[in-house]
Order: sequence, then structure tokens, then C-alpha cells
Amino acid sequence: MRENQPIGIFDSGMGGLTTAKEIKRLLPNESVIYFGDSKHLPYGDKSKDVIIEYSEQITRFLIEKGCKAIVIACNTATSNALHEVKAIAESHKVPVYDVISPVAEKVAYAFNQNIGVIATKSTIASHIYRKSIRKLNKHIEVQELATPLLAPVIEEGFNNHAISEIVLRTYLNNKKLQNIDSLILGCTHYPLILNEVKQFYQNKIQVIDSPLIVANFIKHDLEKRKLLSNTSNSVYEFYVSDLNPNFARLAKKFFGSNINLETINLNNPIPALSNE
Ligand code: DGL
Repeated sequence: MRENQPIGIFDSGMGGLTTAKEIKRLLPNESVIYFGDSKHLPYGDKSKDVIIEYSEQITRFLIEKGCKAIVIACNTATSNALHEVKAIAESHKVPVYDVISPVAEKVAYAFNQNIGVIATKSTIASHIYRKSIRKLNKHIEVQELATPLLAPVIEEGFNNHAISEIVLRTYLNNKKLQNIDSLILGCTHYPLILNEVKQFYQNKIQVIDSPLIVANFIKHDLEKRKLLSNTSNSVYEFYVSDLNPNFARLAKKFFGSNINLETINLNNPIPALSNE
């Protein structure tokens, strides 16, 4: 049964686990195959062509594994390779979800007027948040700031630490962010420093909960497509291109110690799948 096939989720590393965790919470019957491209992290400093190449490879891998839907749980891959991932997946009738459009839609119709976005260099350079939000609501101002050190700091396990605190404080004190009323954490790694961000702002601004918004959107869309799993035998499989102990720790924290975790090399280009 197609509806009982897993949901494929990918990111450059452990950041997408924050989205995966919320999907698991809202959709406990779903099986998940997660791919973390830790060997190539950070994506945020790479060229568009390279990000497209990695994203296409991972998409083919997840489709070959039988995934019924693909979640690009990476803002950087979304801003650079959404079109290419969709082209591959949709030729196999596999829907693609990203982590930006549901958030842009949500904030465009909320009460916020001056929204800040922090994200990788590449996501900020694409202006994808500003464009997607202002396309829906021209009255909203969007201030974008690249915060490239944050993902590597988190990936190395230095969140909730003096290092993340000083890096974050330096970024959030930037004058671009001085008059914002809400902040989008535009990188899936950043929910792992959510409490530090909230502490910095002392509740004076709203910090947008992207994983919850994204997971809710996926839940409703899968429901609409009649693709929700009807069994409770959910299985969680994790693949990484390079094993980082912090990844294993976080995956187990979010999904329990009974997960399958494997290191896999996608380096040999996976040829285009038939139908593409
Ligand atoms: N987690 C990725 C994102 O949401 C980025 C981290 C990286 O630079 O690889 O953009």
C-alpha cells in the first residue's frame, strides 16, 4: 500500500531532525527515512550548482527507497534546488514539501509587520523569505541577516554553550534586526538554539515555530491526498554521508534508541531513475 510507505526527509546534517521530530509527533503512524548529508555540511556556503547536485542525488536515493513523499528539511536546499527536486520527485508522482512556503504563508497573514529572518548565506542571498512573504502581503517588511557560523556551531554540539551564546548575541545585535516584531529561524538547525534566542529577546518579540507549521501543513496535505499511513508499525531509518556522534545522539534523543542508523556514500552519481 502506497500510503504505508515512508516519508523521506533530508537536510545537510542534523538540522532537519527538528522538522522530522515534529512530523513524528503529529503523525506517529508514519515511517520515516532520513538522510543527513553531513559529509557536505555546511550547504550554506556552497554554490547553487553543488547544492542542486547533492539534493538531486539524495532525492533519487529516497525515491529508490520507496518514499511516498519527500520533505526538503533544509532551507538552503529549498532556496537553491526546490525546482530540481520537484522535477525528479513529481515524475514519480511523489509530492515534495519544503520548509519555507508554509512558514511564509503563515506569517504573511498574521499580525506581524516587521519580520526578521536569520539563515545561511545562501538562503539569505536568494531572498526567498522576503520574496515569498511580500508576494502574499506587500505591507510586511522583511529584514534578512546571514548567520553562517550558527549551523556549524550547532552541528559540533556547541549549542547551549558559551560559544553559541556569543555568536548568537553578536548576530542578533546587528542593526538590521533592531526593530523587528518577530523572527523566523530560517535554518532547520536553529530550533536547537530556540531557547537561547528566546532568552536573548526576553519575550519582547515572537519567535516563529517553523517545524510545527511545516509538520501541520504536511499532515493536512497528506490527508487531502489520502496518503496517511493506516498502520501503527512505524519504522525510523537514518542515513548519513559521514557519521558525526552528535547526529546519533540527537536522532536517538528524538526517535528513541531503537533506530537504524547507517553511513552511506552517495558519491558515485546515482543515474537518473527511469520515468525522469
Ligand atoms: N539546515 C540547513 C538549512 O536549513 C543549513 C545548514 C547548512 O549550512 O548546511 O538551511
